[in-house]
Amino acid sequence: MQNEKIAGFSDPCINESKEIKSKLITFVIFGGAGDLSRRKLIPTLFKMYMDDILPERFSVVSFGHPEFTREQYMDFLKKSLQDFYDDSYKISDFNKFARNFHHISADFSDDTKYMKLNTLLDDIPAGSKQNDREVIFIFAVSPVFYIKIVEKLSINKITKKFETKVFIEKPFGRDRKNAQELNDVLLNVFTEDQIYRTDHYLGKETIQNIIFFRFANSIFEPIWNRNFIDHVQITVAESIGIEHRGFFYEQAGVVRDVIQNHMMQLVALVAMEPPVGFGADLIRDEKVKVFNTIRQMDEEYLLQNSVRGQYGSGLINDKIVKGYREEDRVSPDSNISTYLALKLYIDNWRWADVPFYVRSGKSLAKKTTEIYVQFIQPPLKLFGDVCQDIKPNGLIFSIQPDEQISLELSVKYPGIGNSPYVVSMDFNYEKSFNIKTYPPYARLLMDCIRGDLTLFARQDGVLAMWSLVDPVIDWFDSNPARDFPNYKAGTWGPQKANLMLENDNRKWRLS
Ligand code: BG6
Repeated sequence: MQNEKIAGFSDPCINESKEIKSKLITFVIFGGAGDLSRRKLIPTLFKMYMDDILPERFSVVSFGHPEFTREQYMDFLKKSLQDFYDDSYKISDFNKFARNFHHISADFSDDTKYMKLNTLLDDIPAGSKQNDREVIFIFAVSPVFYIKIVEKLSINKITKKFETKVFIEKPFGRDRKNAQELNDVLLNVFTEDQIYRTDHYLGKETIQNIIFFRFANSIFEPIWNRNFIDHVQITVAESIGIEHRGFFYEQAGVVRDVIQNHMMQLVALVAMEPPVGFGADLIRDEKVKVFNTIRQMDEEYLLQNSVRGQYGSGLINDKIVKGYREEDRVSPDSNISTYLALKLYIDNWRWADVPFYVRSGKSLAKKTTEIYVQFIQPPLKLFGDVCQDIKPNGLIFSIQPDEQISLELSVKYPGIGNSPYVVSMDFNYEKSFNIKTYPPYARLLMDCIRGDLTLFARQDGVLAMWSLVDPVIDWFDSNPARDFPNYKAGTWGPQKANLMLENDNRKWRLS
C-alpha cells in the first residue's frame, strides 16, 4: 500500500511547532548522567535538535551522580551519541548542542545542591526574563529517589518560581498503596495537569496508530466486538535477558516491569470504547474504564488462567546465555518470574467471553511486540472439506521490530484446484512513508513541551492497573514456583503457556 499523497501532505503540527520553537525551556534531568539518559534521552534530544524541533532557547541541567567535571560530562554526552545515535553528524553540531548542557554532581538529599540548581536556573540563559521560562523536571533515576527529590524541590522553592512540569518514568510505585503515596507527595507540590507519567510504549508510532486505525476508519468499528472477534493475543517478547539490572529486576519481575504498565496500556488501546473526542481526558477516561472492567484475578482464577516462568540457560543467536539465577545480583534460588502469560477477560458488552491472551518474557526466541486480533471462522463450509483448512482472518499490529499493520485474508490459490490460501495486505511505515519513525521519547518530550497529556497515564489509571496486578504479585510471592527455571533461554517460554491456548483449541501465532 503506497500512499501517493505523501509528497503534498502538510502536517498541521508544523505551524504549531513555530510557537514551540519560541519557548524558553530548561530540562532538569535527575539522573542526567545515568543509563536512561545515556541510552535514550540524550540521543533523542540530539535528534530533535538536529531536526530543528526543539525550542531555540533550550538548556539541560543534569543533576545527580557521578562526580563529573564539565569536560567529563561532555565526554559522557559524546559517548552516548557514539553508542546510541544512529546517524552521522558534524562535530560542530555536537558542540553547539552540548553548549546548552550543565551538570551538577549531586546527592539527591543534599540541600546545597538544590540551592545550586536554583541559582543556575536563574542564570541560564543569561539575560532572559524568568516569567516566560518553563522548567521540565525529568525523573530518570531509580524510583526510590522520587519522593525525596520532590520534597527537596519543594523545600528549596524551585517548583513555584517558574512554570513547571514533571516528566516521570514508570514504575509509579511498587503496588497500589505505594503508588497512592507517591501521588500524594506529587500532588502536594504539583497539580495533576503538571504531571506527565511516562510509559515509553505510548510514544511508539505503531501504538499510537492503534487509535487512528480504529477510529479514523469506519470499516473496523462495526466488527470490533465479540460477534466478529474470536480472541486477541498480545505478545511483548524480548530476546535480551535482564542485562545488568539484577538488583532492579529482583524487586520488579515481569509483572511490575511490563505487565502492569506497557501490557495494560496495549490491552486498553485495543479494547476501549470510542472516545467522544481526542482530548487527553476523554481518551484516558475510556482507558480507565477498560482497566476497571478487566476481570479481577484471584487465586482460583490464576491457577486456571496464568502461566509464570523463569529462564534457565540456553542458546540465543548461537551464543550460550546464562540462566536468570546465574545473573549478577540475582539470588541463586530466586522466585522472580521473567515470563508471564495470562488469559484476561473484559466483562463488558463488547468483549464478553472474548479471551485476551497476553504474554511477556525475557530471553525469548525473538524480540517482537505484536497484537494479533483473530476473527471468527466463516460460518459455512461452502468449499466442502477444504474449508476445514481455511484460516480465520487475522489483523496484526506489528509494533517492533517491524512497524507494520497486516490483514490476513484467504484467497483462491491459482490453478485448477480449489484450495484456499492466506495472503497478507500490509501497511509498512518505512515503505509507505519512506521515513524512519521517531524514537518514542521524542514524541513524549514534545507532547510534554506542548502540554498534551494524552499519551501519559493519569493517576486513576495507574491505580486501576495496580489493582489488577497486585493479587498476581501477592499470589506469586506467597506460592513460590516449584519448577523454576522452567524455560530455556532462546525458546518461546514454558510449555504450559502453549497448553493454556491448546486447551481452548487455539494456538499462539508466534511459537
Ligand atoms: C522497559 C523495561 O520499560 O521496557 C525493560 O523496564 C524492557 O525491562 C523495556 O526491556 C522494553 O522496551 P522496548 O521499547 O525495547 O520494547
